Amino acid sequence: MLVEEAIGEIIAPHGGRLVNLFVTEDERDGLGEKAAALPTIELTSRNLADLECLATGVYSPLEGFLGESDYRSVVEEMRLASGLPWTVPITLSVGEDHAQKLSLGQEVALTWRGQILATMEVHSLYRPDKQLEAERVYATTDPAHPGVAALMNGGPVYVGGPIRLLQAVPHDKFHNYRLTPAETRAEFVRRGWKTVVAFQTRNPIHRAHEYLQKVALEMVDGLFINPLVGTTKSDDVPAEVRVHTYEVILERYYPKNRVLLGVFPAAMRYAGPREAILHAIARKNYGATHFIVGRDHAGVGDYYGTYDAQKIFDSFNPEELGITPLKFEHAFYCKACGQMATSKTCPHGGEDHVHLSGTKVREMLRKGELPPPEFTRPEVAAILIDAFRGINDKETA
Ligand code: ADX
Repeated sequence: MLVEEAIGEIIAPHGGRLVNLFVTEDERDGLGEKAAALPTIELTSRNLADLECLATGVYSPLEGFLGESDYRSVVEEMRLASGLPWTVPITLSVGEDHAQKLSLGQEVALTWRGQILATMEVHSLYRPDKQLEAERVYATTDPAHPGVAALMNGGPVYVGGPIRLLQAVPHDKFHNYRLTPAETRAEFVRRGWKTVVAFQTRNPIHRAHEYLQKVALEMVDGLFINPLVGTTKSDDVPAEVRVHTYEVILERYYPKNRVLLGVFPAAMRYAGPREAILHAIARKNYGATHFIVGRDHAGVGDYYGTYDAQKIFDSFNPEELGITPLKFEHAFYCKACGQMATSKTCPHGGEDHVHLSGTKVREMLRKGELPPPEFTRPEVAAILIDAFRGINDKETA
């Protein structure tokens, strides 16, 4: 079978069609000149990540930042106005002064560091109820929540409308791992993978992650490791360090022909359950059939119950999501079992389990101490110790 024919057989993108917002070569010249004369909206790094996800179809079927009816429906019903499941509003905010200068129907240029990347037709200009958005999407209005803080920091007016990308979002990192959904879909077909499990992460790989991935991989054809590399909160480990831990571990402990590593450009929202659905839909768009959801997925602090991000999948019909969640309980190393396990597979008590909090691990790494190999593989610990040494040096310089 030809690759093109086989691509047609792979899981359908959300809404049925993979979105591609890039202008054609022919269109670019004319549009580029026109765009130079348009009023501009300068993007934040979060907007930039969303723009890339929109343009390459990671957020299919969205074709731009949300207009008011979709926004309201997403916040209140967890669906687009069309009824299609969508749980986290993808929005572009501007300040009051800026909003005064914009009008409906007008075209604007979206810029990053002054450079025009895209044009957008202003179809909707509206004032969101941010308290309601925070309550519904983040389940809290606490400004200490990093997602709520980012929401409240943005301007009071949202601008929605369709986008055309004139030029690819520029990057200085991860060139080998920047795969678009069209590229991952083609690669899955090329490798003959009919079932693919995707893994979202914002952390360095540890043994529990590896366990989840490998248990899942026992049941499907391929594993798509898709670390998030957009903005994260300041105490999360930097993306280049995290991706490096993956490179080293994949080289030593994973079968090359069963794993694909590609970065996920989105910013982290820490919206727990609602973000788990967004993460799953995005991975369906990349061509994955299954998605791992473990403990406290996309969570932060104590805002969400440990398994809320699994329970939310029950709010939708499996067919309307299309991608199948693989739900895992809290995984740990059990000394009595002599292997990784969860409470579903291990009969022993807490005294046999190797549990370390993130804070404890960071404290050990800062001191240059290796966490136990049952928690983190030594190759990963070495990379993290180096990274923490760099951070400490910067802090004391
Ligand atoms: S997340 O914010 O991207 O969810 P993280 O990178 O820690 O954070 O987790 C990646 C995935 O692994 C998530 O699905 C999470 O629920 C799962 N996970 C992380 N640690 C464990 C663990 N010890 N047991 C079970 N699942 C886990």
